[in-house]
Amino acid sequence: MKALLTSILFVVTACALWATDADRRSQQQRGQQVYISYCRRCHGEDGRGIDGYRNIRDRGVLRGDSAALVTTIAFGATGIDPAKPSGIRATMPAFPFRDQDLADVASYAAAMMAGRTLVLTAADVRAIKEAYQNEALRRIRTPKK
Ligand code: HEC
Repeated sequence: MKALLTSILFVVTACALWATDADRRSQQQRGQQVYISYCRRCHGEDGRGIDGYRNIRDRGVLRGDSAALVTTIAFGATGIDPAKPSGIRATMPAFPFRDQDLADVASYAAAMMAGRTLVLTAADVRAIKEAYQNEALRRIRTPKK
């Protein structure tokens, strides 16, 4: 019985490892398509930006907590525009992607710009967005003393 369980466990683990490798590759391919369609026009092919503007390759958000990357894409970002002496903020729009598309493009961005393996699922993205929105609501609703 124990041997049977062990071999079942072995087969399941082997399948899971094989699947994650293939899954990771197709996630990267899908993420690249989303990147080309929605991100390239501002951040360029490789994240170095267009005309030196919106270069995000060095950003900590690509290396740190995946929640920061997911919420940046889902809810947008602001930054100083170096092309303008006034320092007027340039903004990145919020992208209302489906959770799976967001997971794919975030994984692709982290791999392409920071050489980082980030395996994100649609469920991860949903949980991150919900936590972020709940926190924002809590702040709005908590009266200031
Ligand atoms: C309309 C132009 C535009 C598009 C399209 C766009 N971005 Fe941005 N993005 C910006 C600007 C502007 C910033 C802020 C730049 C700065 O801080 O210098 C930014 C910042 C970022 C950052 C860094 C945030 C930080 O906190 O440092 C990441 C990561 C990012 N974008 C990813 C993406 C991804 C992924 C997509 C595609 C889904 C995308 N962007 C599409 C304009 C854009």
